[in-house]
Amino acid sequence: MKLTLHPAEPGPVIDKHIFGHFAEHLGRCVYDGLWVGEDSPVPNVRGWRSDLVAALKKIRIPNLRWPGGCYADDYHWRDGIGPRAKRPRRLNAHWGGVVDDNAVGTHEFLDLCEQLGCEPYLAANVGSGSPREVREWVEYCHATAGTLADERAANGRKEPWKIRLWGIGNETWGCGGNMTPEQYAPEYRRFASYARDFPGAPLYRVASGARNDDFHWTDVLMRDAFKAPLGAQMFQGLSLHYYVVPGPNTWPPAHSATGFDEDGWKSVMALGWKMDAIVRGHRAVMDRYDPEARAALVVDEWGAWYAAEPGTNPNFLYQQQTIRDGVLAALTLNVFINHCERVRIANLAQVVNVLQAVALTEPGAGRFVLTPTWDVLAMYAAHHDARRLPVHSDAAQHVHDGLTYPAVSATASLAADGSVNLTVCNTDPAASAEIDLTLANRRATLRSASLLASPVLTACNTFDQPRAVTTRPLDGVRATATGVAFALPPGSVAALHFS
Ligand code: AHR
Repeated sequence: MKLTLHPAEPGPVIDKHIFGHFAEHLGRCVYDGLWVGEDSPVPNVRGWRSDLVAALKKIRIPNLRWPGGCYADDYHWRDGIGPRAKRPRRLNAHWGGVVDDNAVGTHEFLDLCEQLGCEPYLAANVGSGSPREVREWVEYCHATAGTLADERAANGRKEPWKIRLWGIGNETWGCGGNMTPEQYAPEYRRFASYARDFPGAPLYRVASGARNDDFHWTDVLMRDAFKAPLGAQMFQGLSLHYYVVPGPNTWPPAHSATGFDEDGWKSVMALGWKMDAIVRGHRAVMDRYDPEARAALVVDEWGAWYAAEPGTNPNFLYQQQTIRDGVLAALTLNVFINHCERVRIANLAQVVNVLQAVALTEPGAGRFVLTPTWDVLAMYAAHHDARRLPVHSDAAQHVHDGLTYPAVSATASLAADGSVNLTVCNTDPAASAEIDLTLANRRATLRSASLLASPVLTACNTFDQPRAVTTRPLDGVRATATGVAFALPPGSVAALHFS
């Protein structure tokens, strides 16, 4: 099949924040995941596990959303400040009724973000909180004077932080209050009014957006909450949550992460590419109210959701991964890149030990493995803040359960140093794809080419075999008169770097 890439036609910037992550107080994501505590024998810096921090820095994690998810609307930030021994022990009612001793609170989380070199994205409580609580959290973080600034200094942080990204509620149509959009829109305006800008720290407010293809939600939010009655812009982003949940329509999901057949593979590809239709639909609604795209579509939860790994607590949402998830990640990121005029932030759910994680750790702060999704994010780091390049493809379309998806999907970008990066995936589980790539109007030198593939589609990285599915050089790339040609194995992702 033919791919034609146009290096001389750079388009919009691919915001690095579409490669963001999410850490909820859920299962072993934070506690016994990223956080091991200062006294752990596992190497850590002020309680945060150093090997995971290093792995996340390698994929240049741009932002991290916290503390939820559903947990955010049960979370009261004051529980997580002050001397740790005095912090209250709260029930995590959403996720298994475990006790959260609040060892990780605002200071600890923001320390993690500083260690990672990423932007924090705080999710404020609307469902069981108050405008005052949001107002005071923002003030606690940003004020240079007053009681809350003094309290922050007494807790060890004299200098204010600068936290740009604030979510105002999470899934307010469900766990965040079970509201209709007509109920949430005025609530949003009220809460957002008190999430104030401080000098030098303007907020990027994200309203709680739709689930899946609920375009009505987006319509009402754009109509009633995007602008205040006097015309001020009330949000900079409107969120969207969409998970790929294959298999029977049961809750919790029953589809196995690793025990799937060809039909299971195709379901994930088809449901993954459905993101394109969903984003397209929300974009069209937002375009009607905001043709200049001043508000972003923020896909702050996405990923695959399977049955929990046998033998683990089903409330902890711990699941394994295969190359299928690597290809799903590539397909989804390609959708975001193709819509980067409007999609400017996105967060994979979740970063460690929960759903489509980039790393898994053994219980009790044991060994860790990287997942195929980590490899894909490493490949896509070349696209951070680069300019999208058009890629024309004559790839066939597959159809599964009435959903269409491309046999091959590719995206490309032009980096600030003039180099060109192509990422391409083969969604077919059984057939290789022969790619004939033309770089239109440009002589280019191939500098590197890597491949993520697995001869066994259900193979996964385990603590004993941590790199069973991993990136290796893409062999057999041949120069042609107009570019290069290569074969993509069944179910694989490749990245090519040209100068
Ligand atoms: O990511 C797991 C959960 O999925 C989040 O807590 C919630 O926002 C969503 O329903």
